[in-house]
Amino acid sequence: MVKKISKIIGFIGAGNMAEALIKGMLQKKITIPDNIHASDVRPERLTQLKEETGINISSRNISILEASDILILAVKPQQIKTILDEISNQTEGKVIVSIVAGVSSEVIKNVLGPDTDVVRVMPNTPALIGEAMTALAFSANVSDKNRSVVRAVFESVGRVVEVKESQMNLITALSGSGPAYVFRLAEELIRAGEKLGLAADLAKELILQTILGSAKLLAESSVPPEELRKKVTSPGGTTEAGMSVMDQKDFSGIILETVKNAAKRADDLSKLNT
Ligand SMILES: NC(=O)c1ccc[n+]([C@@H]2O[C@H](COP(=O)([O-])OP(=O)(O)OC[C@H]3O[C@@H](n4cnc5c(N)ncnc54)[C@H](OP(=O)(O)O)[C@@H]3O)[C@@H](O)[C@H]2O)c1
Repeated sequence: MVKKISKIIGFIGAGNMAEALIKGMLQKKITIPDNIHASDVRPERLTQLKEETGINISSRNISILEASDILILAVKPQQIKTILDEISNQTEGKVIVSIVAGVSSEVIKNVLGPDTDVVRVMPNTPALIGEAMTALAFSANVSDKNRSVVRAVFESVGRVVEVKESQMNLITALSGSGPAYVFRLAEELIRAGEKLGLAADLAKELILQTILGSAKLLAESSVPPEELRKKVTSPGGTTEAGMSVMDQKDFSGIILETVKNAAKRADDLSKLNT
């Protein structure tokens, strides 16, 4: 059942993620355009969003803060400090939701005050088509009512899980960066098809549907990925021959190191932002 929300949702930063969330909420009809406000430094961006969605816009971040019950910070990491300074001392009674990668709730509370209701969120790019995986970490003081409103906002663009703040950097490395790993796999399979003699268009069509079909099979079946893989891999067959190269080249190790390095970078960025 779709959960309707009546609180006013504000966005500081009206870029790709804000647009995905605004359009997701309106498409799922959980709120109306009048209950959404957004600010940005680019007036043309705001005008475009207003024309497309009918939301309220302002070039003043403070006006958006004042109008909102739930304020979503959707700027790039390098802009967050300026925004926090700008809104400090004026956030009492508001819920501050940050989707900014590598910025902890602690950093936000250091500027806005220790009692601020903060939610740290890590969505991913499939939000653009309503298929995001979003992790939410609520600070202890956020009320049940506000938790359910924030969940509804992110459920409008995909699936949501609640996690501990301490897991966020690892989650950033896993599902935040995850779409890029899948895109890279797609890229390499298409390239291999081409290098070995197929037309680019044909290789692309084969791989895109293979990834889509495999992802759906994985999602819709109760069988774990390992079992599904084993079902495709008959002894002495073609898949086994291909997989043996993945094993020789330590595919598991490459993936583990990939995620570890991304998580380390998320840790380093978090420290830079403290
Ligand atoms: N995209 C993703 O897949 C993804 C996934 C998870 C988390 N995130 C996080 O989501 C955040 C937003 O990402 P995005 O892709 O939506 O970025 P984006 O498209 O660059 O959007 C940010 C917007 O904020 C504007 N802005 C800059 N300074 C501002 C200020 N002082 N006041 C108000 N607006 C300001 C930017 O304008 P200018 O372009 O002129 O600077 C831009 O329009 C990032 O922190 C990112 O880490 C993104």
